[in-house]
Amino acid sequence: MTKVRAIKGMHDALPEDSRRFRSIEERFRSVVTRHGFGEVRTPIVEPTELFVRSIGEATDIVEKEMYSFVDKGDDSLTLRPEGTASAVRAYLEHQVGAKEPVSKWFYLGPMYRRERPAKGRYRQFHQAGVEVYGDPGPFIDAEIIDMAVRFLRELGIADIQVLVNSLGSGDTRDRYRAALVDYYTPHVATLSEDSQRRLGTNPLRILDSKDPRDQALTADAPKILEFLGPDDQAHWDGLRATLDALGTPYTVDPGLVRGLDYYTRTLFEVKGDTGGAQNALLGGGRYDNMIAELGGPSTPSFGFALGMERLLLAMPESASERTLDVVVLTASPAMRARAVVLARDLRDAGLRVEGDLRGTSLKSQFRRADKLGAPIVLILGESELERGVVTCKELATSTQSELPLEGLAAELTRRLR
Ligand code: HAM
Repeated sequence: MTKVRAIKGMHDALPEDSRRFRSIEERFRSVVTRHGFGEVRTPIVEPTELFVRSIGEATDIVEKEMYSFVDKGDDSLTLRPEGTASAVRAYLEHQVGAKEPVSKWFYLGPMYRRERPAKGRYRQFHQAGVEVYGDPGPFIDAEIIDMAVRFLRELGIADIQVLVNSLGSGDTRDRYRAALVDYYTPHVATLSEDSQRRLGTNPLRILDSKDPRDQALTADAPKILEFLGPDDQAHWDGLRATLDALGTPYTVDPGLVRGLDYYTRTLFEVKGDTGGAQNALLGGGRYDNMIAELGGPSTPSFGFALGMERLLLAMPESASERTLDVVVLTASPAMRARAVVLARDLRDAGLRVEGDLRGTSLKSQFRRADKLGAPIVLILGESELERGVVTCKELATSTQSELPLEGLAAELTRRLR
């Protein structure tokens, strides 16, 4: 019979993987909570229109990568490809802006993009992200870029490159778009098919094309930083001055555009060594127009998201963390009910305990206990129990002793310290 397998590009996390995921999640929560962010949890499915209107019709995500389907009520729904649009939808739906001038949210969870699977690129992947509403920057932008960099360092990821750029806003963008159209139009025949189409709809997307035909031309294309109007320039200067004051390392990359259409002004990305071509660990920027474009009041916004799987690839292999303190074995199968009770009582006292309840030979139980890696093994035997004691073996020193059942949890806690 053929076996049912997971969908291509979507992966199971077995307990060891989950432990590593959780350690990133816990540290992320700890860092963002220190910065005053609160968690938002939004549905994994949203109306398709939300992503089309925010991410942009002429982007790879919307054109090629969304998992969209029509449900039984004839509504077009999409598995979220990212978290920013959903968070903004929730912010507007609950009129949060009317209640507080600045909101700082974070989220964690799976995202879905039908990309070509590769090392570090999956169809279901996990992001942790933050969004700030109501602060025009550029100081908050620099503060959050610095927070992201420090978080990576805390995970032991030191080999990173922080790229920053400004995409300007309003008038800057109009002038730049016109300059790009003037530049590419005489060469339209040498552009890729996607870029030929996007020249009319969204010329900035050409800058992000991975097609070598487009990249050859883009090398000499006009640079947005030469088009910044006075307000955009002041924002850009303020961002860099604050990053300098914080001592955050960064490189200005005038070619950085990123794959989503909603960005204005500050844009950034952090690259690292993931052992593959997918080396963007995290990315984000300012998106001052999105809330108004989705029907809300004009609200400056900034955020970023990181890819958890890519962080796992870039993190140094840490020694496997101990997850158990005690394993309880039985000298005879008749002792198993007592073992369940003892394990329960030790857990109540705060110890991490696993009981071997299979009823196999003591030798086979010891083999398993070795693999479980708990520093203490207890063996329940009939004659010992009659004397009110249990045999205790400490793996590190290979010493064996008898411990009274009375006060056992306290004695084990002392030995584990
Ligand atoms: P993004 O650059 O599309 O931005 O994704 C952010 C991060 O998610 C990437 O840097 C990468 O680490 C990870 N990622 C993206 N696609 C995949 C994939 N197929 N497989 C594995 N990891 C992936 C955003 O999603 C924006 N919402 C970020 C943002 C928040 N901008 C403002 N606020």
